[in-house]
Amino acid sequence: MTTLTQLRTGQLQGTQRLDISCNLTEFPREIFDLADSLHTLNLSGNALAHLPDDLPRLHQLRVLFCSENQFTELPAVLGQCPQLQMVGFKSNRISHVPAAALPPQLRWLILTDNHIATLPDALVHCTQLQKLMLAGNRLTQLPGTLAACHRLELLRISANRLTALPPWLLNLPRLAWLAYGGNPFSEAFETAHQPSESSNPPTTVQWQHLTLQHLLGEGASGVIHQALWQPNPATPPAQVAVKLFKGAVTSDGWPLSERAACLRAGAHPGLIPTTGVLVGHPSGTAGLVMPCTPPRFTTLAGPPSLESCTRDVYAPHTRFSLATVMRIALSAASAAQHLHAQGLLHGDLYAHNLQCTAQGDCVLGDMGAASFLPMHDLATSQALQRLEARALGCLLEELLAHGEACVDDSDARSALRHLCVQCLHSDVAARPLFGQVVAQLQALKSRFLPGFKVLK
Ligand SMILES: Nc1ncnc2c1ncn2[C@@H]1O[C@H](COP(=O)(O)OP(=O)(O)O)[C@@H](O)[C@H]1O
Ligand SMILES: [Mg+2]
Repeated sequence: MTTLTQLRTGQLQGTQRLDISCNLTEFPREIFDLADSLHTLNLSGNALAHLPDDLPRLHQLRVLFCSENQFTELPAVLGQCPQLQMVGFKSNRISHVPAAALPPQLRWLILTDNHIATLPDALVHCTQLQKLMLAGNRLTQLPGTLAACHRLELLRISANRLTALPPWLLNLPRLAWLAYGGNPFSEAFETAHQPSESSNPPTTVQWQHLTLQHLLGEGASGVIHQALWQPNPATPPAQVAVKLFKGAVTSDGWPLSERAACLRAGAHPGLIPTTGVLVGHPSGTAGLVMPCTPPRFTTLAGPPSLESCTRDVYAPHTRFSLATVMRIALSAASAAQHLHAQGLLHGDLYAHNLQCTAQGDCVLGDMGAASFLPMHDLATSQALQRLEARALGCLLEELLAHGEACVDDSDARSALRHLCVQCLHSDVAARPLFGQVVAQLQALKSRFLPGFKVLK
């Protein structure tokens, strides 16, 4: 983190990225001295309510974060910044999003946790938009013009006041990751599925029975620690993983929605199960308790970067054998198929939510973006499952891109590539359902890798 003194004494000449968080109430004018180099500006965690009218003088600016500030409207001046691609104003008090505030090159817009009731039709001009984060607002509807944002891949509309799932969402050619839980329209699906908690209460884990150990990982919505759980002093403690939610609204929606989805998901060998729901945290923090995945399991990839936007980032030199590709793909597809059968859409089917061994044993976690499917409406429910097929297509594409070249398995590779193309089809109706994907992967595995155990 840079200090204001460094900025004011001219020590930051040539800087490309600047982070300043020190209760600023005014935009420091010295930032303009960096105009020729600055492309990423993070002013999150201040007390700003305005940006200067001459902000476009930062002519290289591509990324601007102003989360946790005091903005009540998205500054119109953003629309004048020709290079600006990523705009993050999470956790402000924004109720007004002027059409003029949308930069022409916008790819990634974060407005999570604000007071927004309507969005401008002008979103139609954001033809480059790939990622739109709107969880935790007051939206009663989405502008129909979003239907023309054909590049949109990831959408979060959970924890809003939407009365219907817009039908055009289901035809967006690239939409692969969607979360809509915690809206009036989805409550009906949620209650239809949920056994009442009074008749079937979830297992609870008392905070006082946990001893927190080291950090296991962290995502956008939670911090995960290894812990010992000892509900009974007479029996030895069990090793568990505890997910503590970062806030009342996360970028994926409400912790309560994640808890409902975890309880609904049930058991499957390709899923991280839920041991219980945390109660009694001294600050009232919500949490979930799970078995700890053994250390030989590591996260398959890192989450998207500012550059990759919607695609995960793999460690340099990552190479998968064909057997590993097939095993990971089959495990992820079977886990998602199980969730769909339970009436759930995962919503965040990504390599960064898969923990895998070098051999391709693999479990899917993070139900944070999961939404309940409208199982009474088969057409909508299947369209949503086909939307998630695109996420699997992206995963398969990435696995194949990191595949070890080997002349012997070119037939198997082209079969996998064919499946990948089907899953990525821009016509949503032409994509397979997960039952078909799993059947195809199993057939490929028994043809090309006889002898491997099939996950059921
Ligand atoms: N049961 C678990 N055992 C071990 N590590 C875990 C477990 N659950 C999560 N983690 C670690 O924490 C990271 C973030 O977990 P995740 O549930 O995806 O959080 P978020 O919702 O914030 O994205 C994972 O990538 C993984 O490294
Ligand atoms: Mg995650």
